[in-house]
Amino acid sequence: MDDAIAREVVNRCRHLATCSDEPGYTTRTFLSDSMHAVHAGLSRWMADAGMSVTVDAAGNIRGVHPGSSSAARRLYIGSHLDTVPHAGAFDGVLGVVMGVALVESLRGRRLPFSIEIVGFSEEEGVRFGIPFIGSRAVVGEVDATLLAATDASGTSVAQAIGHFGLDASRMADARAASNALGYLEFHIEQGPVLEHLRQPVAVVDRIVGRTYADVTFVGRAGHAGTTPMEARQDALAGAAEWIGCVETQARRMKDLVATTGRIDAAPGAANVIAGKCRVTLDVRHADDAARTITVGRLQSAAEDIAARRGLTVEWSPRFDHQAVAMHPALVSMLSRAVERAGAAPHVMPSGAGHDAMILAPHMPAAMLFIRTPGGLSHHPDETVMDGDVAVALAAGANFLEELAGSVDD
Ligand code: HGY
Ligand code: MN
Ligand code: MN
Repeated sequence: MDDAIAREVVNRCRHLATCSDEPGYTTRTFLSDSMHAVHAGLSRWMADAGMSVTVDAAGNIRGVHPGSSSAARRLYIGSHLDTVPHAGAFDGVLGVVMGVALVESLRGRRLPFSIEIVGFSEEEGVRFGIPFIGSRAVVGEVDATLLAATDASGTSVAQAIGHFGLDASRMADARAASNALGYLEFHIEQGPVLEHLRQPVAVVDRIVGRTYADVTFVGRAGHAGTTPMEARQDALAGAAEWIGCVETQARRMKDLVATTGRIDAAPGAANVIAGKCRVTLDVRHADDAARTITVGRLQSAAEDIAARRGLTVEWSPRFDHQAVAMHPALVSMLSRAVERAGAAPHVMPSGAGHDAMILAPHMPAAMLFIRTPGGLSHHPDETVMDGDVAVALAAGANFLEELAGSVDD
């Protein structure tokens, strides 16, 4: 595939990164105002490539390139359009923009399957503390409980959908076709493996399982100057002890990672003992048993620490997903496509979560990673190299050709 196309893909991602909720940074949460600008850009490129464009009730933008017959099965190609705070330009967006470029490169040619490019509205879980809202809508897993979840300002998911000009009661229409052929996702690796291997791309064979919970220690607020140390029920001190324990337990389990990425103490003043402290917990492992054992240990540790310090602890599960395998036949097909693009068909697991893990239980799914310089992601300096994007696009085009040869008209 032409380097000029890869350069254009990178430029489009950098342009979309300017659509932000926060001046000077790329921060875009579920259906925030800046998502309108992202949709405007994508829908122009999709329409110019001959796709029909819609936005579903979960705020996913979808462009369809028809197949050679009206009964054709459908290949989904997608990734997410929301970001973490102070993000880079490529996490998620690259996979959507690459999908559009692949359809453009067909120049109107119909394949024996239709192609639907999906830009998922939400994957990171930043606004509502619940990830994958976009892809969950596509597999029919957005229920009343999820729609009622609220963000920090008390706005529910359903209200956010309404504010964006969409109708949450139409959620069932967001579901993927029952005869879906599969799902393909291009994504930056977000880690150092490909850089160490000096490889431009890798085929993903599985995505690790993940437990995500809010853990809240509750004690009693009090005066920082007059309350003796032994009379305190300091929720923040209890949380701090537990955070240390999370790190210790994570190191005890080989290949497990655990993160306490956010802490909120209330009432939050230098001269007030914290009465309440909420900590987020994110635990991941390719082996579900290893993850479950560690989460159990962390739960017991939180209870022990709370009991010893005269606190209570509340454990609120936010998300729990087992490890998922990518579809073996598609992994092989993508590996051949990479080889024909002139690169080594390296196969690796993903430690990050991706929309593919939500789609995989419902249709054959595959993912291609693109080398991430410095392994740096969830950071404004996240980048990709044009040449690597060109290899990934060539592999994508090869994949479409082989799939076309294997599907009946
Ligand atoms: O957190 C993750 O794994 C991804 O970036 N959503
Ligand atoms: Mn991310
Ligand atoms: Mn991502």
